[in-house]
Amino acid sequence: MTTFRIAPSILSADFARLGEEVRNVVAAGADIIHFDVMDNHYVPNLTIGPLVCQAIRPHVQVPIDVHLMVRPVDRIIPDFAKAGANIITFHPEASEHIDRTLQLIRDNGCKAGLVFNPGTPMHYLDHVMDKIDIILIMSVNPGFGGQSFIPEALKKIAYARTMIDKSGRDILLEVDGGIKIDNIAAAAAAGADTFVAGSAIFGQPDYKDVIDAMREQLAT
Ligand code: DX5
Ligand code: ZN
Repeated sequence: MTTFRIAPSILSADFARLGEEVRNVVAAGADIIHFDVMDNHYVPNLTIGPLVCQAIRPHVQVPIDVHLMVRPVDRIIPDFAKAGANIITFHPEASEHIDRTLQLIRDNGCKAGLVFNPGTPMHYLDHVMDKIDIILIMSVNPGFGGQSFIPEALKKIAYARTMIDKSGRDILLEVDGGIKIDNIAAAAAAGADTFVAGSAIFGQPDYKDVIDAMREQLAT
């Protein structure tokens, strides 16, 4: 039986009350905190870094999943590990040496993964499956919360699921972008087990209502 995980993206949280926001969303049932790092270079937006990760770390026990949308990638990885990250993912286009970056993340004690934009080919997985703990399929182009789900992502999720099953390894399959109550079941049916949701959760007054409704969709 698949264990499904809900990973709220704090990109849509109230940044003036971030400690309270992460506590509330975990109390509402979040399994993971998804932490979007944007550099105004690899993506056209600028968000948060290791200092903010360190600041929220004492507020929650659940894993912090750092999604790096930055270039270069490597030099910021040890800083996030020190700041309490548990999972670090990056975009293969943003790394000079994918294998080295994956190894660097693991050497810093975190789970490592690759992120695939809607237009990124999946062959980046081919020679590094043994160094991967998580695959993140983007169902929007990276850079902003609140965008619409791109249905073609379902095919990539299904492809990644096949690769994971073939590897026989315990690899999380995460989907990120435009996930709502009404499409989470389709992402699960394609093979995803970890669901990032920003605006769908933080855009509603009762986080537990949304997370419960998502879990209900996953149970059917
Ligand atoms: C987009 C980010 C996503 C985003 C998700 O670049 O990686 O994590 O915050 O937000 P929603 O769920 O609103 O699409
Ligand atoms: Zn993200």
